[in-house]
Amino acid sequence: MEQEFHRIKRLPPYVFAEVNALKAEARARGEDIIDFGMGNPDQPPPPHVVTKLVETINDPRAHRYSTSRGIPGLRKAVAAYYGRRFGVDLDPEREIIVTLGSKEGLANLAQAITSPGDIVLVPNPSYPIHAFGFIIAGGAIRHLPVGPDFDLMEQLERAVRHSIPKPLAVVLNHPANPTAETVGLDFYQAVVDFCRHHGIYVISDLAYAEVYFDDRPPPSILQVPGAREIAVEFTSLSKTYSMPGWRVGFCSGNAKLIAALARVKSYVDYGAFTPVQVAATAALNGPQDCVEEMRQRYKSRRDVLIAGLAAAGWQVPCPPATMFAWAPVPPAFAAAGSLEFSKLLLKEAKVAVSPGVGFGEYGEGHLRLALVENEQRIRQALRNIKAFLKTAGAAPGADPDAAGARKLAS
Ligand SMILES: Cc1ncc(COP(=O)(O)O)c(C=O)c1O
Repeated sequence: MEQEFHRIKRLPPYVFAEVNALKAEARARGEDIIDFGMGNPDQPPPPHVVTKLVETINDPRAHRYSTSRGIPGLRKAVAAYYGRRFGVDLDPEREIIVTLGSKEGLANLAQAITSPGDIVLVPNPSYPIHAFGFIIAGGAIRHLPVGPDFDLMEQLERAVRHSIPKPLAVVLNHPANPTAETVGLDFYQAVVDFCRHHGIYVISDLAYAEVYFDDRPPPSILQVPGAREIAVEFTSLSKTYSMPGWRVGFCSGNAKLIAALARVKSYVDYGAFTPVQVAATAALNGPQDCVEEMRQRYKSRRDVLIAGLAAAGWQVPCPPATMFAWAPVPPAFAAAGSLEFSKLLLKEAKVAVSPGVGFGEYGEGHLRLALVENEQRIRQALRNIKAFLKTAGAAPGADPDAAGARKLAS
């Protein structure tokens, strides 16, 4: 049949697929590829959480359909987390729902609230579901360029001024994937004031709430008085407790948005497997030293990576949070662009990264490196990258117009 499906036509082929295919081919040839591509935590979850899962799985009653809003004990554990971490008091009945990872929650919230043609404001570059959840739901996206050259609040005001109809919602994500940008509570205060005034919902993605490296833990938008009149916030166990495969996340805040998401989910799923939810409850309620260990692990990997890249002549800003470095493409390769430079790194240095353009047009000129390899492998990657940049004439002191770089990039 010839017909193309309407929704599928609006989903471009995954930019990362090209690098992934080359990575698979290289591995099939027996090459050892050091993989900074996907933000997929490499550590196991805390042992007491796995023990709780195993214990619960042996209970014959735990194998029935669960509840799509999440078991009450888990919603209470999320409320307790918000209380101790942010000083925010949430009602687990009306203001919290459990999702099958925050990605599922974002996609189904978009389904729940979007009418055809509704405008949603989304940062660019961004984690793909932030835009594509709404595109799949029939909405229209207006991009808010983000990065060091842009003031996000100004971009938001400008976008609202020039959007007809008035935008339905704005998506925020701080600490940000892929740029690692963080914000303070004053930014959320300004966003809440502005969006309450204009009647615009705010959907905040706080997946990296606990992955920060200085003494300023990222705030929650729900700390702003009045925020829950317009805002919900997604959190997740994937990064905090290294449980990405378990698929447990949460949406908290505005009761109307939570009810809308709950309605869609009541048709779509029966909730996460009960033992997974019971073990997730143990993660949130149990000892939190594993979270500090996670932070220290990513921090020392970050330090090794950023210092090693600098020594190789590649200046990359040190990320204050997240598990990502957002690296400008070295000047000698700027003309090649992020996708071609990613392919070169794979071929010449045996290092896989995500090209920035895969996160949106304003991501062009950058690469995202995920801190998901151990320090020994990061050091190996750094040796390879240094040798490659040297050969290409892009190492310290080399002429950026050197023939090697031009030849490799052509
Ligand atoms: C910003 C952001 N939000 C959400 C997710 C997805 O998290 P989950 O595993 O909870 O679906 C990720 C995963 O990388 C992410 O980077």
